[in-house]
Amino acid sequence: MSLPPGFLDELRTRTSLSQVVGRKVLWDTRKSNQAKGDMWAPCPFHQEKSPSFHVDDRKGYYYCFGCHAKGDAISFVRETENVSFMEAVEILAGEAGLPMPARDPRAQEKSDHRAKLIDVMEQAVRFYRMQLRSGSGAHARDYLERRGLDAATQDRFGLGFAPAGWQNLWDQLTGQGVTPEQIMEAGLAKPSQKGGKPYDTFRNRIMFPINDPRGRPIAFGGRAMDPDDNAKYLNSPETPLFDKSRTLYNQGPAREAAGKGQPLIVAEGYMDVIALASGGFDAAVAPLGTAVTETQLQMLWRITDEPIMALDGDKAGLKAAYRVIDTALPLLEAGKSLRFVLLPEGKDPDDLIRSEGREAMRVLIDAAQPMVHLLWRRETEGRVFDSPERKAALDKTLRERIRTIQDPSLRSHYGEEIKRLRWELFRGRSAVGQGKNRRAQSGPQHHPTQNTRSSLLVAGGQDIELRLREAVILAALIATPEVIREFEAQLEMMPCADPDHAVLRSCLLQHADASAGDVQAAADAALGAGALEKLCQSRHVAITPCVRNPGNADLARLTIAEELAKLEAHCGLDAEIAEASEDLNGVADETVTWRLSQAAEARQKAHRAQAEDKTEYDTGPNGAPISREERSAFAALMETIRFEKPRN
Ligand code: UTP
Ligand code: MN
Repeated sequence: MSLPPGFLDELRTRTSLSQVVGRKVLWDTRKSNQAKGDMWAPCPFHQEKSPSFHVDDRKGYYYCFGCHAKGDAISFVRETENVSFMEAVEILAGEAGLPMPARDPRAQEKSDHRAKLIDVMEQAVRFYRMQLRSGSGAHARDYLERRGLDAATQDRFGLGFAPAGWQNLWDQLTGQGVTPEQIMEAGLAKPSQKGGKPYDTFRNRIMFPINDPRGRPIAFGGRAMDPDDNAKYLNSPETPLFDKSRTLYNQGPAREAAGKGQPLIVAEGYMDVIALASGGFDAAVAPLGTAVTETQLQMLWRITDEPIMALDGDKAGLKAAYRVIDTALPLLEAGKSLRFVLLPEGKDPDDLIRSEGREAMRVLIDAAQPMVHLLWRRETEGRVFDSPERKAALDKTLRERIRTIQDPSLRSHYGEEIKRLRWELFRGRSAVGQGKNRRAQSGPQHHPTQNTRSSLLVAGGQDIELRLREAVILAALIATPEVIREFEAQLEMMPCADPDHAVLRSCLLQHADASAGDVQAAADAALGAGALEKLCQSRHVAITPCVRNPGNADLARLTIAEELAKLEAHCGLDAEIAEASEDLNGVADETVTWRLSQAAEARQKAHRAQAEDKTEYDTGPNGAPISREERSAFAALMETIRFEKPRN
């Protein structure tokens, strides 16, 4: 539906963001200034103890300096209540006493229809729960008890029982005035093939209601009581309410628990989720009888950065893990990843917690492996790489896998980690986790500066160039602060060869919404008198068109994007060269050392050539960031390493 012009403005004026947010956070009273509408709290979107979540009540915007979540009251309600835009508007309008405009009749009809189906589902939940408590449910109650599910747990998950027989639910619902069409549309009954009455979908099964994120029942999973039943588990068919590829069992409660700091665990089945939750791992979800889909992964990443997949340690579990990896690789972004817990063979989380207790589960979760290790295991386990052909084949497969990662920074980190693992394997050490010089795992570590700095290959000349580029970026942002927000993420990752630049960068990020004058004042204050002026007056900076034309956002964007791309390209290359030389420590023969020095020299030459090119800041963002000589020297270098490394 479309809202009339001015409606959202009116809604924003009538809504107090700090009141809306205040329901979900505890304000830091010392840091906040209520009179000014300047409020601070620990961020509700990521785990933290210190308050970096800022609400500007007058402007109606929030921003988290930790995780960069930002938005207005509507986006806050969308995120925290997990609702659509329109639903968020409706919630806020209701609270503000603002009547919603009349709906488009078709949308209204659709939403009424859904509401009716949910109502039918709620009646079914009630019926099944009652059956579980009744005489016919005695058997089912015993079964659940044997499996360690006490009454409280049954209630918590709304468990029920669908009695044997063909029309129990049917008779109940029709008796309450639900139409046959509605029952079938909700997936609760199926038309008879023999011309008789429709029959109940679920018979003689333990019933697990599947809720949407707001806790409304949209489907059921049913576990057969009869061990000879053809299907141990049966799910509702797809209905207007239920799209199983977009649903996670226990999503709502898990999201809430994950928000409070619990690790988000993805298990295979209903019983696992319930066992995990009963064992204190409240943030547990499961897909619904299928492999984890792309949409489900995105849903998981909206809850937390690193969900943990808990899988059976047997062949089938590993296969499932590999399937998840294939789905996940192209979707990975910096900071978003997966970890894997492989359970002892033949056990699921439910079995493990019951036989060995929740502590055993905790230990496994704490030791969850990063995804890259499973990727490695998949290609290497049980194989022998005793010939150049086999090694080359391994390299090829791994390269192909890594190539599917879209995020360049992550792709290079995966490349590094795989290189390390391969190095260890070919050196004859055990493949994973034994290396003496083990570098940090491929976590969210973006800054190659440490490596770069310590590398002998990076000479001073390059440092100067990096500083200049950083200075241009920072000066451009000071001249046109309205674009700071757009570059936030990249700014964060900027290595900052000059410590002053790091100070200035944080200052800019903190004052991203301030006026140009205020930003400049803040920058002056942060750097100390004269420093900012000096930065902006250095020749390279001063001639940059967007610095000369403050407030020209398009020009600023163009320059900043280009400079950032160049910085990134350099840092990526530096990291690879630094790492290559590090890896070769002690084993490099003269050829390799010579090749490395050649590569370094070619770089220097390219930099000098580039530094003399004074027009570069006037060109568009299409120049090649690295010179051709550099590339070919680097390629030669990598070739050398590829041949050299495997030698024992
Ligand atoms: P499992 O066969 O591993 O069952 O199926 P489980 O979770 O250990 O269940 P219990 O402990 O025997 O009761 C895992 C998940 O796969 C789906 C269900 O979602 C189940 O929770 N599944 C399994 C089906 O959809 N259909 C089936 O026939 C079996
Ligand atoms: Mn099980």
